Amino acid sequence: MSTIALKNVTKSFRDHQIISGIDLELSGNACTVLVGPSGCGKSTLLRLICGLEEPTTGEVHIDGRCVNTLPPVERGIAMVFQSYALYPHMTVFDNMAFALKISGCSKTDIAQRVHKAAKTLNVEHLLDRKPKELSGGQRQRVAIGRAIVRHPKIFLFDEPLSNLDAALRVKMRHELARLKAELKTTMIYVTHDQSEAMTLADTIVVMRDGRIEQAGTPLSLYHHPENLFVAGFIGSPTMNFLKAIVEKIQSQYLVLRFDSGETLSIPITRAELSARKPSLSLGETITVGIRPEDIKEEVSSTEDGAIFSGKVSLVENLGNETHVWVTLPGGATLNLRQAKKDVPHALGQEVALLVRAARCHIFDPQGKAIQRTQKEAACSP
Ligand SMILES: Nc1ncnc2c1ncn2[C@@H]1O[C@H](COP(=O)(O)OP(=O)(O)O)[C@@H](O)[C@H]1O
Ligand SMILES: [Mg+2]
Repeated sequence: MSTIALKNVTKSFRDHQIISGIDLELSGNACTVLVGPSGCGKSTLLRLICGLEEPTTGEVHIDGRCVNTLPPVERGIAMVFQSYALYPHMTVFDNMAFALKISGCSKTDIAQRVHKAAKTLNVEHLLDRKPKELSGGQRQRVAIGRAIVRHPKIFLFDEPLSNLDAALRVKMRHELARLKAELKTTMIYVTHDQSEAMTLADTIVVMRDGRIEQAGTPLSLYHHPENLFVAGFIGSPTMNFLKAIVEKIQSQYLVLRFDSGETLSIPITRAELSARKPSLSLGETITVGIRPEDIKEEVSSTEDGAIFSGKVSLVENLGNETHVWVTLPGGATLNLRQAKKDVPHALGQEVALLVRAARCHIFDPQGKAIQRTQKEAACSP
């Protein structure tokens, strides 16, 4: 079990700053998943941790010791890349044994470790093959095996499943979850796949432009995003956003008016409102966020909320559920997720939608979330 700490780390290439002051502490046998748009610095951050890059300023600590000048081989880290990076002329066995041979392990020890890893990863029968004789999934297993045999203190995975087809990704994801429980090491995993992030992570770190936007458990990020970026990044289909004007500020409620004329009373206390500095004022434009599963198609509901009318503009039938996009008169769209048993929709059909006040997220004009304790518990229906 290892501790990794990044202390105000920056990294510039020439005069272009790619990592802009990251502070992060990871410890225990946990899996931290880094997500963020392409180019935001995820791979660079992994390379800084494993020593393939040196920070421009700041410090990388492993187990309490600054490792800025420690070469990669001495850091006890193994990294698995998207590209597999196997040696094409070597057999699977030799690929997995390579790093052990270099570090002077005995033949018996090497054979024992390679066979154990091969068994764990189900590639025992492939040990005599060359990489070109393997499928994508098998190659990725070998790349993971090559990391496992070294018994690293820390595993870094950089989009390891990106080159695999959808079915294989899911299978490998389950195997990685099993491996995570079995290996009990510190793992950092980069992915752009929502399901991988949500299912493998103990902690998700959302990055943008070389900075951390928010770090937390998958469900805390899903239910309590701290800003519009995280709210829009986590969740698929994405959270709906509607602009609204603050019409009234009352002791227990905020009354909002949408462009299309509907009003919505959001339960919020004075204390919660004043936690936002400067405090919200009348007439300000804020953003209301609502997850697709929190919109109901219902005209006669007694539940607090706003009823929007619109026309169905897109329907995606996934078999187990349906995603329906509805265009409102002002041009904004709302997407809702419906269970398979719900009513089917035709394009152009008029619908009425209930946006449930208790489930709404609200973001101030700067895009920062105004947190509400009265927000309905995430798990209630
Ligand atoms: N060695 C390098 N020299 C110059 N620019 C680099 C280098 N490595 C990465 N970059 C730039 O840093 C940015 C972040 O890259 P990267 O960390 O690979 O992003 P991500 O993995 O999040 O997609 C990109 O704009 C990339 O072009
Ligand atoms: Mg990358």
